[in-house]
Amino acid sequence: MLVLGIEGTAHTVGVSIVDGDGEVLSNVFETYQEKEGIHPREAANHHSSKIVPLIREALEESNVGRDEVDLVAFSQGPGLGPCLRTVATAARSLSLSLDVPLVGVNHCIAHLEIGRLRTEAESPVLLYVSGGNTQIIAFTKGRYRVFGETLDIGLGNMLDKFGRDKGMNFPAGPVIEKKARGGDELLDLPYSVKGMDVEFSGIMTSALNLDEPLEDICYSIQETTFAMLTEVTERALAHTRKNEVLLGGGVVQNKRLQEMIEKMTEERGATSFVPEPEFCVDNPAMIAWTGYLMYDSGTSISVEESNIRQKFRTDEVEVTWRG
Ligand code: ATP
Ligand code: FE2
Repeated sequence: MLVLGIEGTAHTVGVSIVDGDGEVLSNVFETYQEKEGIHPREAANHHSSKIVPLIREALEESNVGRDEVDLVAFSQGPGLGPCLRTVATAARSLSLSLDVPLVGVNHCIAHLEIGRLRTEAESPVLLYVSGGNTQIIAFTKGRYRVFGETLDIGLGNMLDKFGRDKGMNFPAGPVIEKKARGGDELLDLPYSVKGMDVEFSGIMTSALNLDEPLEDICYSIQETTFAMLTEVTERALAHTRKNEVLLGGGVVQNKRLQEMIEKMTEERGATSFVPEPEFCVDNPAMIAWTGYLMYDSGTSISVEESNIRQKFRTDEVEVTWRG
């Protein structure tokens, strides 16, 4: 079975072909480069100008003909309305013109499923940290449930906003990581954990008001926010009695975050897993693969049911593909 998956919830638009054995035959994507924060309509224009060439490229790279595609999957939400609409329109047209079924995939769950495919993780707690999202997700009692999340903005957005203010190029996360390596003084920033949830905008405001070397500020932002994430992830492990942590989202490419999570899991006798970079960031293979899992277990939708879901909650999805 060959699945064509399309991702397009925020900055990234892409197309992937995977088969039913989990072989990723192509995974091509392009990212809208924001200047002053993401502009949803401009991002959607970017996506609509790229989507047809990306479909062609994905088919070519995987050596698959249009008429060999058996299923179309798309990112149904959560995400930015104009971006989601662009991708949903492309997916509906493809499904109708190729006369193949359609599935709408929850973007957050897809990060977890691609991690299970690409690493040895079997039933992990996912620490998902991207630009727009920061969530701790695990499968319990038949659903993917959110055990903790940001109460304001995603950590990546916070890093990008802080970086923009300091004149860094987008995305600022990797620039901050580099600068942080030159810092060693832990400056006072609010440590904002509320139960299992976290907050980042107060930290950003405090960091912007500090009059200290930039290296030390970057170091302190990382140490503080990553410690918060490590704390809530550890509690999710204890609560769910799981012994695997899977990392997902663009921010988890950060070596310091990986190191802190690894140390915590080792101390608990648990294991942490990080997928290859192309499967950490927003990527279409995760949509194609999750679409396959859903379809294979009996889920598909009609075009009438394919409305986008900007606030699509992780725990709304009926998980038919896990025992
Ligand atoms: P979404 O929130 O919808 O999943 P996104 O557009 O934020 O999507 P991702 O590709 O998952 O997409 O993540 C991008 C984010 O990751 C950016 O905010 C970027 O600054 C951050 N990032 C990338 N590399 C690093 C790094 N080494 N350290 C910290 N943050 C990083
Ligand atoms: Fe994402």
